Amino acid sequence: MCGIVGYVGNKTAADILLDGLTSLEYRGYDSSGIALNIDGKMKLYKAQGKLQNLRNIIKNDYAEISKSTIGIGHIRWATHGVPSVENAHPHTCNCGKVAVVHNGIIENYKELKAKLESKGCHFKSQTDTETVAHLVASKYAETQDLTEAVRLATKEIEGAYALAVMHQDVKGTIVATRRNAPLVIGFGEDENFVASDIPALIQYTKKAMYLEDNQIVTLTSDSAKIIDINNNPQTLKTETLPWEPVALSKMGYKHYMLKEIHEQPDIVRNVLTGKLKATDEQINLNEVTLQKADLKELKRIQIVACGTSLHAAMVGKYLIEDFCEIPVEVEASSEYIYRKTITDDKTLVIGVSQSGETADTITAIRLAKKKGSHILIITNRPDSTMAREADSLVPVNAGIEVSVAATKSYMAQLISFYLLAIYMAEVKGSINSEELNELKHELIMLPQKIDKVLTNKEEIQKIARKFSGFKDFIFIARGINFPTALEGALKLKEISYINATGYSAGELKHGPIAMLDDSMPVLSVLMKGKVYEKILSNAEEAKARNARMIALTDSDDIKLDDLFENIIHVPEISEILSPALAIVPLQLLAYYIAEFLGKDVDQPRNLAKSVTVE
Ligand code: F6R
Repeated sequence: MCGIVGYVGNKTAADILLDGLTSLEYRGYDSSGIALNIDGKMKLYKAQGKLQNLRNIIKNDYAEISKSTIGIGHIRWATHGVPSVENAHPHTCNCGKVAVVHNGIIENYKELKAKLESKGCHFKSQTDTETVAHLVASKYAETQDLTEAVRLATKEIEGAYALAVMHQDVKGTIVATRRNAPLVIGFGEDENFVASDIPALIQYTKKAMYLEDNQIVTLTSDSAKIIDINNNPQTLKTETLPWEPVALSKMGYKHYMLKEIHEQPDIVRNVLTGKLKATDEQINLNEVTLQKADLKELKRIQIVACGTSLHAAMVGKYLIEDFCEIPVEVEASSEYIYRKTITDDKTLVIGVSQSGETADTITAIRLAKKKGSHILIITNRPDSTMAREADSLVPVNAGIEVSVAATKSYMAQLISFYLLAIYMAEVKGSINSEELNELKHELIMLPQKIDKVLTNKEEIQKIARKFSGFKDFIFIARGINFPTALEGALKLKEISYINATGYSAGELKHGPIAMLDDSMPVLSVLMKGKVYEKILSNAEEAKARNARMIALTDSDDIKLDDLFENIIHVPEISEILSPALAIVPLQLLAYYIAEFLGKDVDQPRNLAKSVTVE
């Protein structure tokens, strides 16, 4: 949520900042801005809306702007104050010499603002961030030292922040700091970078350091000095980033989302590598540090997550209960944190998150940790806050996901849950090995089946075109594919803004059926298995109300041709593994509908990739 980039070196800063913001655009896109020091003067350039608007402003003044080799930039997802030029970052103080970009929320900004206003500060925006600019300016007036001014300011700030700060009179210097929001420093030859996420740096350097909470870095083109909030010097710990810049290109696809959907067969292979070696060998999951004896004694598991990750968690519940016979509760993190939460050291708490930075889930796992639960995190970002809080870290290795709508990370989370559930069942001996070996074999074959679905995409495209004019959509399923229906509906509403809802098929007759008529498409996730016949009956009930019937199925039963107007066929698969296959056509359906409607697929309105506020 929001993106920060800063550069100090010998190249045109504006170019690097704009490139950096482009690669962070998936984190927010309602306004943007940069601050540059041009000939000793602090200059701000800001625009409302997409980054292109800022690019246009910069183009008009490029001869002047290109002189600057230092700057900070920001792309915003509004929390305090509407998206507007006034509220866009960077923010500045009365004299305009301090420039600040900020991710996160300053929780005590109202008190700080009142204090600063009483000292004569004039606020120009509705943001919480502007308080930081005035606060740093007032501390600088006392100390004449920018690092010290930032350090003293952070002592008064409450909340979550990643900050990058410049001062007109402190030439060639950026000061940056963080608390509960990510920030990474990148090191180049006579140039240094700071950013809220790796995509902003990776095309320039792979040498980087993740800043820890309350560390403050003072960056010049040839130095990086770090202190903590109590002024103790800190050691620079650089590492080589594992990402390749090419991973962040569209590779010829029209949108990142389409590219990421197509990456899924490889993602499954990646997640299985080293963990599932042969069908008759036990799963190797060294990442689970919970002692096997403790694992056998577990009385309960709770899984907390949000959005798409929550749907993966729901499949995880089904698997763990089925294989291990341990009761599993799944709850949206935002609900888990504001009620009496019952957990203890006999409960395993699993947090699932693509970004590892979702504020609701971070708060939930911290709460459980305080109560003594072992915290297992399934995340795509081993460099994230959640990963650092984990007792056991199961990285899902899906690579950076750029499209705001999660696809490949969902697949990777699902596969991680299969591995985890099999691993736990093997430790507990709760299921016979033949059944598990069969599932392992199917997991190994899964990438080929996903490939087949992807080659059938023209068929899905035709159905998407036919149904793209509908205003509402219902997805129904039962059992292990109920989360598939929820996820299919979420994908569609996120990127096409169509009112799509997932229902348990058995619930249809208890209310939602009232909405059905010929203006309502009903998509049934109809995978062969225990609930196949039941869903078929529920689909009949919908057909009897003239709903427009679509099936997604691995069955070749010709009876279906009479019931359904359109059928999306997928290769045959066991019911237990079917969520990992059935979701792919639903991702494609959502993608093509949004594309036909001309929506901004990768950056849907009002959303941001990583939601760092509660
Ligand atoms: C949906 C989507 C969101 C996220 C949710 C949780 O496509 O991307 O619903 O799944 O905001 O984010 P993470 O997984 O980063 O915790």
